[in-house]
Amino acid sequence: MSSPIPTHHRALVLKDVGSPLHLSTLPTPHATHGSAIVRIEAASVLSYHGEIYSGVRAYHFPTPLVGGFSAIGRIASIGPDATALSPGQLVYVDCTIRARDDPDTQFLSAIHDSGAPGSVKLMRDVWRDGNFAEYANVPLENCIKLNEGRLCGDLGYEVQDLMHVDFLLTAYGGLRDIRLEAGETVVVCPATGNFGGAGVQVAVSMGARVIAMGRNMTELRRLKDFVRAGSPGAEIETVGITGDEKADTEALSAFGTIDAVLDFTPPQGIKSTHLRSATSMLRRNGRVSMMGFSESPVAPWAMVSKSIRLQGKLMYEREDMVQFFKMLEAGRFAVGKQFVDTKAFELGDWKAAFDTAAEHTGIGRHVVLKP
Ligand SMILES: NC(=O)c1ccc[n+]([C@@H]2O[C@H](COP(=O)([O-])OP(=O)(O)OC[C@H]3O[C@@H](n4cnc5c(N)ncnc54)[C@H](OP(=O)(O)O)[C@@H]3O)[C@@H](O)[C@H]2O)c1
Repeated sequence: MSSPIPTHHRALVLKDVGSPLHLSTLPTPHATHGSAIVRIEAASVLSYHGEIYSGVRAYHFPTPLVGGFSAIGRIASIGPDATALSPGQLVYVDCTIRARDDPDTQFLSAIHDSGAPGSVKLMRDVWRDGNFAEYANVPLENCIKLNEGRLCGDLGYEVQDLMHVDFLLTAYGGLRDIRLEAGETVVVCPATGNFGGAGVQVAVSMGARVIAMGRNMTELRRLKDFVRAGSPGAEIETVGITGDEKADTEALSAFGTIDAVLDFTPPQGIKSTHLRSATSMLRRNGRVSMMGFSESPVAPWAMVSKSIRLQGKLMYEREDMVQFFKMLEAGRFAVGKQFVDTKAFELGDWKAAFDTAAEHTGIGRHVVLKP
């Protein structure tokens, strides 16, 4: 199944923050102890990838590097200590890299070194390059085996559509962290972005009732239609984010008991009060997964009097990935356009991919590079 590995391959290199990516020809990496070489088939593009590499978002990472985020590809070669992976295997390539001698030291490949001395060193010296390339050198433990027969055969997913799992998985990491249960009600806010929309898809698949909050009412209507088309029995409500904390809190109060909140507020929304509205309406012992950024996530008295638990979360744990793929393989998600509308670009068209990713946002939308 695997083809010979060429001596050189193509990759998108970021020389310096603020300079354009450059399609370069580089020596193909070799597998060593603890690593696999993956032939990348689809690499995920974030809505804010352009902001990261232009320096608009002050993320910290070494340069030069090969850009990227998570990806899907086929194992091309493996280090001698691989026990479960073999050439040809389709894998999800997780961009969350953890130090082997300290799994609490973690960073996001080609995105952010996390700022801790250990993760800065690991990204700078070892795992610097990302997946915007024909071949990537990846830690063995970051290659999650995909059941291709079940996912692409029985269920009919396209490989490029499976890339949508990186958004879904991230939301799942937060929801599993706060132990969302079937039958509970969860507020997802803001729900009109990629990760927020994914949060709605995952919460519905976990059997929760979802209240999706957002500023854009047109997009909220699309979100509701999207959920109902893919999951006809799902309970999905929408509430506008108006900028008026009291009004948003009252709007949420129409929906009865709220058990949990999943937040993906981007840095530019850090002062928005929507999360305070959502946390004000939580029941006693309500849980909040804070995956975004909010300056004032909860009113102090609400937090104390109702024993609210605020839980920060970066991405997900390995166990979450294993569990998530079981859900996917079990057929808990829709397939085709009711799962995701993927827009795919070649490596050389990275600029169009970044521009499209900034616009093609919201539930069931994704942009990928296909090296
Ligand atoms: N913890 C983690 O592991 C993790 C992982 C991935 C991402 N994140 C964070 O999640 C954020 C969202 O990512 P995304 O891909 O969903 O972004 P996105 O697709 O660009 O969507 C941004 C979302 O934020 C909303 N928004 C923007 N400005 C706002 C404001 N001032 N007030 C209220 N809402 C506002 C947008 O609403 P409109 O539609 O109204 O513009 C949209 O719903 C990222 O910026 C990142 O910081 C965290």
